Formats: sequence, structure tokens, C-alpha cells
Amino acid sequence: MKKLVVVFLTGTAILAGAAISAEDPISARKAVMQNVGDAAKMGGAMLKGEMEYNPAAAQLALRVMNSAALAVGELYPKGSETGMETTASPKIWSDMGGFKAALVKFQTDTAAGMMKPEEIEFFDKESFGEAFGRATANCKSCHENFRVQKN
Ligand code: HEC
Repeated sequence: MKKLVVVFLTGTAILAGAAISAEDPISARKAVMQNVGDAAKMGGAMLKGEMEYNPAAAQLALRVMNSAALAVGELYPKGSETGMETTASPKIWSDMGGFKAALVKFQTDTAAGMMKPEEIEFFDKESFGEAFGRATANCKSCHENFRVQKN
């Protein structure tokens, strides 16, 4: 249950992130991505059996990723290419269309597993495994294309 609370809080952090974005888009987008990372960790822990599977928490993991995919594209304005130890690749700004398309794909792939509130209790671990696999395939592909790896 502790982890569930953490993800609820990170959902709030996404909104807070959007509010401070105008002044500090780099911190905001990093915070959004950290939420995505936390959601992925929680999902992975449930699938590996390190945390008890819970359909509501599983849905939440997908929803955190989905909201991030919707919101984070606004946090790459011109002028935020460098600084604050950003690992955003210059390619984002030279191929903004490609980056936005990758975000749309992430949004679509996470939405595919999202269920109506009355159906959430039927979201079993196997269905989550499939949805989670589809969602997390986006991490690597986007990071390879649009993120600079720090050594
Ligand atoms: C459409 C592109 C895209 C997708 C999809 C994506 N990321 Fe990212 N991610 C980025 C970019 C760009 C950065 C660098 C942000 C910065 O430093 O400004 C980043 C940074 C991160 C960071 C580091 C944040 C920090 O504190 O610097 C984590 C953790 C992360 N992503 C996790 C994930 C996980 C987990 C997934 C998949 C579930 C994912 N990301 C999917 C583009 C993406």
C-alpha cells in the first residue's frame, strides 16, 4: 500500500510540475520522467512478485505514464536545450516532429491498457503484463533517439 500512495503523490507532482514549467522546464520534465520511472518500477515489482499484484495500482502505473506522455511535450521550449544536467538530446529540437510522434506513440501504447473504472477489478496480472510490456518498450526507443547517455 505504501507504494500505491507514492504513485498517487507522483500524480500530483505531475500537475505541480506543469505549474512551475514556465520558469523551470528542465526540472519539471525531469520530475515528470522520474514519476514515469517510479511507475515503471512499481509495475515491474508487481510483475516479478516483489510486490503483491493490485489491479488499481497496475492501472495507476499506466495512467501515470499516460499523463506524462500527454504533458511532457510542452516542457521542451526553445532555450531549454542545455543546463541543469539535462540529458535531453539536441535531436529533440532538430526533430521536434519526431519527438512529438514518439510521445504520441507512448500515449497510445499506455492508453491501450487503460480500463473504465468499473472494469478495473478485472484487470488481471496477465493483461497488465501485456500492457506494461507494450508501454515500457517506448522507454528504450525514445531514450536511444532523444536522450544523451551520460557516462
Ligand atoms: C518520447 C520520449 C520518451 C519516452 C517514451 C520515455 N522517456 Fe524517459 N526521458 C526522455 C527524455 C528526453 C529524458 C531527458 C530529460 C531531461 O533531462 O531533460 C528522459 C529522462 C528520463 C529519466 C531521468 C530523469 C532525470 O531525473 O533526469 C528517467 C528515470 C526516465 N526518463 C524514465 C523513463 C521510463 C521508465 C520510461 C518508460 C516507461 C520513459 N522514460 C519513457 C524521453 C522519454
